[in-house]
Amino acid sequence: MDLAIQANQKIDVQKVREDFPVLHQKVNGSPLVYFDNAASTQKPKQVIEAISNYYKYEHSNIHRGVHTLSLKATEKYENARGKVQAFLNAPKPEEIIFTKGTTGSINLVANGFTTLLKPGDEIIISYLEHHSNIVPWQMLCERTGAILKVIPMNEAGELIYAEYEKLLSRKTKLVAVNHVSNALGTINPIQQIINQAHQYGAAVLIDGAQSVSHFKVDVQALNADFYVFSAHKLYGPTGVGILFGKEEWLNKLPPYQGGGDMIKTVTFEKTTYNELPHKFEAGTPNIAGGIGLGAAVDYIETLGVNNVGAWEDELLHYAVDKMKTLGTVRFYGTAKNKAAVISFLLDGCHPYDVGALLDQQGIAVRTGHHCTQPIMDWYKIPGTLRASFSFYNTKEEIDKFIIALERAQKMLL
Ligand code: ALA
Repeated sequence: MDLAIQANQKIDVQKVREDFPVLHQKVNGSPLVYFDNAASTQKPKQVIEAISNYYKYEHSNIHRGVHTLSLKATEKYENARGKVQAFLNAPKPEEIIFTKGTTGSINLVANGFTTLLKPGDEIIISYLEHHSNIVPWQMLCERTGAILKVIPMNEAGELIYAEYEKLLSRKTKLVAVNHVSNALGTINPIQQIINQAHQYGAAVLIDGAQSVSHFKVDVQALNADFYVFSAHKLYGPTGVGILFGKEEWLNKLPPYQGGGDMIKTVTFEKTTYNELPHKFEAGTPNIAGGIGLGAAVDYIETLGVNNVGAWEDELLHYAVDKMKTLGTVRFYGTAKNKAAVISFLLDGCHPYDVGALLDQQGIAVRTGHHCTQPIMDWYKIPGTLRASFSFYNTKEEIDKFIIALERAQKMLL
């Protein structure tokens, strides 16, 4: 990579855009403006080439062969694990489990807690969660008789911290909250949340799907018990994600799935399980996906994740200020501390209609409930339009977006 970007250095947006082939196309006759980064980020050629080279020259199954290709593929895959370990500042590589994504990681932990909970135990989540950090815990409660408690939110889309303090007790066994809300962009005070939960002996899982691409995350400094994210929101491939778990917790959880690679010995009478991380990685994994994630981590580390976040923050403020001048935008999620995600509605317009008209002008935003129906119910709306920025977005794109919004509104009213 020839991106000579140092710490605290401004991103050279035009230069990084050259790394993303998908951005250089027209959609419906206009240059693509991709503002759906919270749903999935685009892939730089460094990631695409890492995956392509693996399939062209290095593919073999891993952890299984003595032949050279298998050893090479194993080394690449395990190197990727090491890159993720360093990226999160996790103490040990065996605390990094490859999964299918954030959802897979949360389900793995929720499944494991089945053996650790009894009726009347409590799990705390928040109003701001994605369905993937709600439903697995509801299913766990149904299996165990545990009770789900929810931290409420305020009009700005911030958690009401005093209510969290009231929910905590010795019955609390687990707290699962996101670092950044996918629907509203709110950055939650997870350091405080973790510290407080630990005073009651509860474990804490942080859904980092929307955070790791925006700012530096250090799981040791946070003292998180579990931290999860998806590769595809970090410029990597789909179908692969990460569960960081403290060794002591991963050792307490039973395996998630049975199969090859997760065993030490198998007889018809009894199976013994493999060491971490393999205990949680049954079957041939997404090898190319893991290697692609490793390349994505390299890419973002070269840019500097905090440099990326600084540019995205500039875009956020630029866009909000411009949108306010339209006079017809209602914002949802106005937290003081937020990532580059703007959820909004245009007065008198259905979000799907606006989304479709933006698409006709080459602009991709997400419309709907964003897998956060409770948040939409709180605001008593069916959904929002959501523009979410990446470091490869520009102010010129935001100017086009503002013009397109004005046009859409004129057509719909
Ligand atoms: N969770 C993804 C989003 O927020 C899909 O759009």
